[in-house]
Amino acid sequence: MAKDKLDKITASALRARKLGGSLVGDKIAAITAYDASFARLLDAAQVDVLMVGDSLGMVVQGLPNTLAVTLEDMIYHTRAVVRGSSRALVVADLPFMSYQVSPEQALESAGRIVKEGGAEAVKLEGGRAVCAAISRIVEAGIPVMGHLGLTPQSVNVIGGFKVQARDEAARDRLVADARALERAGVFALVLEAVPRGVARLVTESIGVPTIGIGAGPECDGQVLVCYDLLGLFQGFVPRFVKRYAELGDSVTGAARSYVAEVRAGQFPDERHSFADAPRSDAEPPDEARYASGPNASGPKGRA
Ligand code: KIV
Repeated sequence: MAKDKLDKITASALRARKLGGSLVGDKIAAITAYDASFARLLDAAQVDVLMVGDSLGMVVQGLPNTLAVTLEDMIYHTRAVVRGSSRALVVADLPFMSYQVSPEQALESAGRIVKEGGAEAVKLEGGRAVCAAISRIVEAGIPVMGHLGLTPQSVNVIGGFKVQARDEAARDRLVADARALERAGVFALVLEAVPRGVARLVTESIGVPTIGIGAGPECDGQVLVCYDLLGLFQGFVPRFVKRYAELGDSVTGAARSYVAEVRAGQFPDERHSFADAPRSDAEPPDEARYASGPNASGPKGRA
């Protein structure tokens, strides 16, 4: 069996990293992914969880929020991420209005993301209001991750992308919601945009791992949107985002060089053109070079 199969991260293995309310294993490192190429690169970095977030509405589709993302969109992107990953657990978001109507609707949507997209777990937003949906999905054999704090699908109720649970009443509601989600059967819980002390309190109050985004260092794990982490998203950079690379600048720089070379007639040159006749017996034919040469990172047959 391949090593990456032995190492395969599962929802139950992540759940087991917290025992008796304390983290016993490594902190959980999660990153969002939306396509096979990024999934492959991130999986190679030994990330534990690839989250197919509905944030794809903002960073891939260019929308102002996540509300218009459809179940079909999520299935499409999940399928791509699953193809690119081997070790990481693939968790897909249930998009807005694909689970809020009834527990039956939630189960049907989760079932489609698993059957058609290949997700290994689903994530949904909300507290006590979604516990019946969570129980129904978990009873059917699909692991569920919860999501509390700033829940972007409720942006119109919240009134913007703002830090949550700033007062005592809101903090108490958050802890009660987190406990309810644990009872409903979540294997882990995302905490988004809450003060660090509140995240610590929730982390100490429940027996399943918390995964923070804008929730400070005391969570049991962290998640970042890959476009933020890599410096690919050029819009607003929230305080909690650390950019580990500035790939956006590299992309624009590379494209600028390409544009200049095309305009100057410097690209393509001899090295990047197919010869009219095979160059020599010592050299493989162009087709083989295409499939295995230094520039052949893409799938075979891409023309
Ligand atoms: O949609 C998303 O990407 C998310 C993660 C950032 C937690 O919900």
